[in-house]
Amino acid sequence: MKITFIGHGYVGLVTAAVFADLGNTVYVIGHNQDKIDNLNKGIIPIFEPGLSELVKKNVDNGRLFFTLDYSPFIAESNAVFIAVGTPTTKTGDANLSTVLEVAEKIGKNLEGYTVVATKSTVPTGTNKKIQKILQENKASGAEFDYASVPEFLREGSAISDTVNPDRIVIGTESKKAQEVLVKLHEPINAPVIITNFETAELIKYAANSFLAVKISYANAIAKLSESLGADALKVLEGIGMDKRIGSMFLSPGPGYGGSCFPKDVKALISISKDVDYQFALLQEVENINHQAKRDIVRKARKVLGDLKNRKIGILGLSFKPKTDDMRDAQSIDIISWLENDGAKIKAFDPEAKETAKAVMPNLDIVDDAYGVAKDADLLIVVTDWNDFKELDFNKIKSLMKSPNIIDSRNIYNPQDLQALGFNYMGVGR
Ligand code: UGA
Repeated sequence: MKITFIGHGYVGLVTAAVFADLGNTVYVIGHNQDKIDNLNKGIIPIFEPGLSELVKKNVDNGRLFFTLDYSPFIAESNAVFIAVGTPTTKTGDANLSTVLEVAEKIGKNLEGYTVVATKSTVPTGTNKKIQKILQENKASGAEFDYASVPEFLREGSAISDTVNPDRIVIGTESKKAQEVLVKLHEPINAPVIITNFETAELIKYAANSFLAVKISYANAIAKLSESLGADALKVLEGIGMDKRIGSMFLSPGPGYGGSCFPKDVKALISISKDVDYQFALLQEVENINHQAKRDIVRKARKVLGDLKNRKIGILGLSFKPKTDDMRDAQSIDIISWLENDGAKIKAFDPEAKETAKAVMPNLDIVDDAYGVAKDADLLIVVTDWNDFKELDFNKIKSLMKSPNIIDSRNIYNPQDLQALGFNYMGVGR
């Protein structure tokens, strides 16, 4: 098939590259000439394992094209996917201006029959709005059907999540659109749920919010375990073995961050308010998440007392490993709170140096973990990069002023570090 994606963020770029790799001809429409030129050379604007190779391979074999132009690509496509961002507004709602703008441009360029589908996460009701905009802007001879096809990929494992998803959700009442979309997804082996717009939209918010509930539950159990003398990791392992609960997304730490969970939990609270339902469970999930981040700073105060002029090294800046994404990264708040207390911060991240500089221009970012350890009073692991699991802790100890470590992701064995003379603090143990 010929398909077009609007947007080359994580969702647009990864899904476009995967569909090209499955044998389709794929056009990706962006809005920045430099980025488009780079993408056509296989240079991608984000760090995602395997993506650069997949894009380059499909650009080279003539199946993946990047452009600024809607014409003639929309007209030539069997299916068009909207995959632009929906960031949070000040009131906690999703900002839909780009999605709606793009819908108008697609509408104006439709020709013949096209399936238009939205992958961006949008609040219930938005898909009806998009459909209306397409209808109002299309030429009289053009025909289209519309669907909501939410995306469930995770950053850091985006390609394998797209190739092997747990399910494919297609929200449309049009039989013709169902046929096209089912055929397009045929090479992907996953159960397909066909439903209406509203249900598809809510599946996405309900899934992300439920995963956030699990993480906050794990953080609440961690907090409780610290007071009761229990080992939260064993408690969570113990409950996770119950198949009804499941062991995934139960790792306590500095709270969830990133471009999805914080935004989508907020949006679902806001969507609920609009229909007079106070989703108090999710409000508490946000509160626990905030406290999980605050707790890292509380622990730093517990170890060092007054933080004024104390040297603190931060290991990891991105919101999770295997990505350079700094959107809503836990490190931003933690560093700012430590700095408010007068601490002097040095940081290192294997991939997020440039992206972190963009949000924290004054942060002292050094070239490796040992540079962070030099003369530090305390080390804090904020992101669980594998690289940090293999550090030489004898060297780290010799470089530090005092061997204190807060392991906010529980990546080390406490006994090993204590045996080397470290004052170790994890989360929930
Ligand atoms: C999340 C969902 O997992 C995807 O299914 C969804 O498609 C995506 O949002 C989206 O809506 O686009 P992502 O934000 O890339 O994916 O990353 P996750 O792996 O879900 O991690 C989110 C945050 O939760 C990270 O900060 C991570 O460190 C934290 N986390 C995760 C925990 O603190 N504990 C856990 O047990 C798991």
